Amino acid sequence: MKKVKIAPSILAADFSQLGEDVQKVEESGADLIHFDIMDGHFVPNLTMGAELVKSIRRHTELPFDVHLMMTHPQDYIESFVNAGADLITIHTEIVTAPIDVVIEKIKSFNVQVGLATRPQTPISVIDPYLPDLDLVLLMSVEPGFGGQKFIPDTLDKISYVDQKIKEIGKPIDLEVDGGINEKTAPLVIERGATILVAGTAVFKQSNYADAMNQLRH
Ligand code: DX5
Ligand code: ZN
Repeated sequence: MKKVKIAPSILAADFSQLGEDVQKVEESGADLIHFDIMDGHFVPNLTMGAELVKSIRRHTELPFDVHLMMTHPQDYIESFVNAGADLITIHTEIVTAPIDVVIEKIKSFNVQVGLATRPQTPISVIDPYLPDLDLVLLMSVEPGFGGQKFIPDTLDKISYVDQKIKEIGKPIDLEVDGGINEKTAPLVIERGATILVAGTAVFKQSNYADAMNQLRH
């Protein structure tokens, strides 16, 4: 059984000392760093851009998992690649460019590509894109803010995607994002999640290593 990976979301970290916080989670066993990029348009919140990602890049060797909650992600791919992104995830709900075109653009920079769905989006929308993906991101909260409650309907979606990935037979990561804590983590792992995003459940705890180990087991 592959060890589930933890991707702490820095949205829950202390923005006045992100470098130190990221080094601390790396030392505490984090597998990736999750960046929640919000444009104040696709979601009602404005968080951080490529410059911030770039400033964190020299503080850690961990893979950068960049979650673009933006209306025009296609216009920012290159800047996030140059900032050090290893994986860039866009949302299926964008209407400003064909999803397959944006997926190809991300792959053209030789970084990994993820596709995310909001809770109310039917999960079958990802089917045609699945063979081209490195990761599927299932939002288990309404995108826009950390610290929200896990939406239980997500569990059946995880099983659906897990089954589709098995049918394709390609190692596609299944990331679950939002409201992950010591109670919800085992539920999503059991359904097939391979990466857990955790903001509050890590950065709002005093011991990052214990917090992440609690999520893994
Ligand atoms: C929400 C973000 C999530 C969120 C996770 O739009 O995509 O990554 O920051 O935060 P928690 O783990 O606190 O729900
Ligand atoms: Zn996220």
